[in-house]
Amino acid sequence: MDKFYITTPIYYVNDKPHIGSAYPTIAADVLARFYRSAGAAVHFLTGTDEHGSKIERAAAAAGKTPREFADEIAAKFASAWKILEISNDDFIRTTESRHEEAVAEWLGVLKGSGKVYEGEYQGLYCVGHEEFIKESDLNEKGLCPEHLTKPELLKEKNWFFKLSDYGQILTEKIEGGDFQIEPQSRENEVLSFINQGLEDIAISRPNVKWGIPLPWDKDQTVYVWVEALFNYISALGYPDGEDYKKYWPADLHVVGKNIIKFHCIIWPALLLASKLPLPKKVFAHGFINVDKQKISKSLGNAVDPLELAEKYGTDTVRYFLLREIPFGQDGDFSVKKLAARYEGDLANGLGNLFSRLATLIAQNLDGDAPEVVASPKDLSDVNTLIQELKFHETLARIWEEIAWANKYIDETKPWELAKKDPKLFGEVIASLVALLSEIALKLAPFMPETAEKIRSALSAEKITKPEPLFPRLNAQAN
Ligand code: MSP
Repeated sequence: MDKFYITTPIYYVNDKPHIGSAYPTIAADVLARFYRSAGAAVHFLTGTDEHGSKIERAAAAAGKTPREFADEIAAKFASAWKILEISNDDFIRTTESRHEEAVAEWLGVLKGSGKVYEGEYQGLYCVGHEEFIKESDLNEKGLCPEHLTKPELLKEKNWFFKLSDYGQILTEKIEGGDFQIEPQSRENEVLSFINQGLEDIAISRPNVKWGIPLPWDKDQTVYVWVEALFNYISALGYPDGEDYKKYWPADLHVVGKNIIKFHCIIWPALLLASKLPLPKKVFAHGFINVDKQKISKSLGNAVDPLELAEKYGTDTVRYFLLREIPFGQDGDFSVKKLAARYEGDLANGLGNLFSRLATLIAQNLDGDAPEVVASPKDLSDVNTLIQELKFHETLARIWEEIAWANKYIDETKPWELAKKDPKLFGEVIASLVALLSEIALKLAPFMPETAEKIRSALSAEKITKPEPLFPRLNAQAN
């Protein structure tokens, strides 16, 4: 693979980052780092979704203008991603002129397709979703079951996109593999939704001021989802930027399972109408609950990934989220589970292996690195697992080797060998160093800081007794 363009969804700026937004960003980061180290030209995009009623109202509630409000929260996302070691190449904000101009240009193309028409729509709009919702989707109290708010009855003049024309061609593209949706269960869900018949969608809103004006009807703004999807292309410098020519189509959009209709139906249909190539793949991950409950504003149970990173370290947060939850399935976060993995997998597993080995070298070889030998274990299967986005399996596989190495130390008792059989001691240590170096290499996309600590310690002129990689929690200041 010579180029790899990967994206995360762009996050609404109605709220600061939480573990639910950190999760896809970390997952995408692992892939970006992996492909970069494999030599591909990687472009990794993330950003913020800043227009629409939802943001307009959140800003008003905070007593700010939408612009001030969006600036503040967008900065929080950018700084959170730095702390979490996210290696994005670009960060797009939908209020940037580069986005607004590219969207206006593209809408002209879309309008020219003949698939855009003027009409009137009456329906229930959920601002939390930024989407019209069906009466049958409401709960028994007539509320949106997710946001627990009453949807608004709107009767509006809108511009529409003829989504209904695209069912068959989308089915063909999906079934033929030109447009891949993973996991399979999500592909099935999309296909069955298409099969029920697609309805046209409104692509403009007459009463939303905080948005991009429609080029041909300035009384309306573009429907926020339509312009948000286009971020994946506007950020590359559509229509004639170098990055656009080099990187589009995207190799992978990482999205949550709740937004697959937008990414797997509306987005490719808009692209087909505009005669633009389709992304190669959409992968939909599951949801993270907290202590078995859905993360919600009303419960106030959102977990701040930065607080976790401060206490346990960024790499621990990255490791936990991808190790604990099979990518594609729902999973549960709890501090107890995180602390257990910290103590078990990290401090007692990897941390212990590293400090035992470095200490043995410091104390018995005068800190001199042993001669370089081949790793006793082959970890090349890990590359395939990462490419298949099986992050939890990748980490489990790496930890098998960590467990093996710790056991090998227990059994060979190198501290005794050092006196009894220095030659054999040298061989045991050399092979453990080779294995740990291999482990660090495979771990680098997931835990960049830890991998670098291991690499630099093992390649030092003089290897010394190291600081613990994962200090005991009770020894840490809270
Ligand atoms: N702005 C839209 C996306 C536009 S992309 C062109 C949006 N924003 S969001 O901030 O609400 O959600 C962004 C992503 O975070 C979604 O993919 C969503 O699935 C994900 N998550 C938000 N909460 C989550 C969990 N609790 N667990 C896992 N992912 C979740 O939708």
